[in-house]
Amino acid sequence: EVPRALPRDLEGLRIVVSAGGTREPLDPVRYLGNRSSGKQGFALARVAAQRGAEVRLVAGHTVALPPPAGAVLERVSTAEEMRKAVRAAAADADVVVMAAAVADFRPADRAEHKIKKSDDSPDPVITLDRNADILAELVRERRPGQTVVGFAAETGDEQGSVLDHARAKLRRKGADLLVVNAVGDGKAFGTEDNSGWLLAADGAEEAIPLGAKARLAATLWDAVTALRDRRP
Ligand code: CTP
Ligand code: CA
Repeated sequence: EVPRALPRDLEGLRIVVSAGGTREPLDPVRYLGNRSSGKQGFALARVAAQRGAEVRLVAGHTVALPPPAGAVLERVSTAEEMRKAVRAAAADADVVVMAAAVADFRPADRAEHKIKKSDDSPDPVITLDRNADILAELVRERRPGQTVVGFAAETGDEQGSVLDHARAKLRRKGADLLVVNAVGDGKAFGTEDNSGWLLAADGAEEAIPLGAKARLAATLWDAVTALRDRRP
């Protein structure tokens, strides 16, 4: 890709991006986690800062990534920590993008000491409690003029295609925009490239061709500025 000067079209905007995966502890050494690399969220933060935005990046667990130049980076671990950090940052933000893979559930009990196996007691069973849905909360508590963007990793199944699931999710969540990645077969998680669709609350749908995660980031920021320019 030929490097070219980026527009400074996000100047004056306060943007919050979440990235990476959360970890839900079972005991001092074990957790439930997910395969999120954080690369897409970091690319979003980097490109937004390059385009002039004031960027706060709330990152869960990621592969080793350089901190995006020009962004303020805050590290969190659990979904509850991510919730607190994102909500605090969102309080004065113009745009919030939830690119993080937030655990839907956490172990109901967190053992104080390492869980031991034993021959004379039954094997443990993990009971899960549901975590708060950060994106849904952001939508509910949205400031006037604030733009809220979600991500969804979907697979097609007997209930419907990737797009069917994504359209339903956008409606359910009430976000302004939803970026949809098709996952499975090594797609999206940890890779350098991403593809999918960009769905807008007004029904507009745009296919995102396979390309670098920075490319998808640029497409999303273009859509966010277009959306914000269009509104009354
Ligand atoms: N999300 C969130 N808080 C959660 C779970 C998800 O903010 N506790 C956000 C993600 O960051 C993402 C969007 O919601 O932007 C969609 O996440 P996804 O896991 O695809 O949706 P869910 O509503 O959790 O539905 P599913 O049952 O398909 O996992
Ligand atoms: Ca989920």
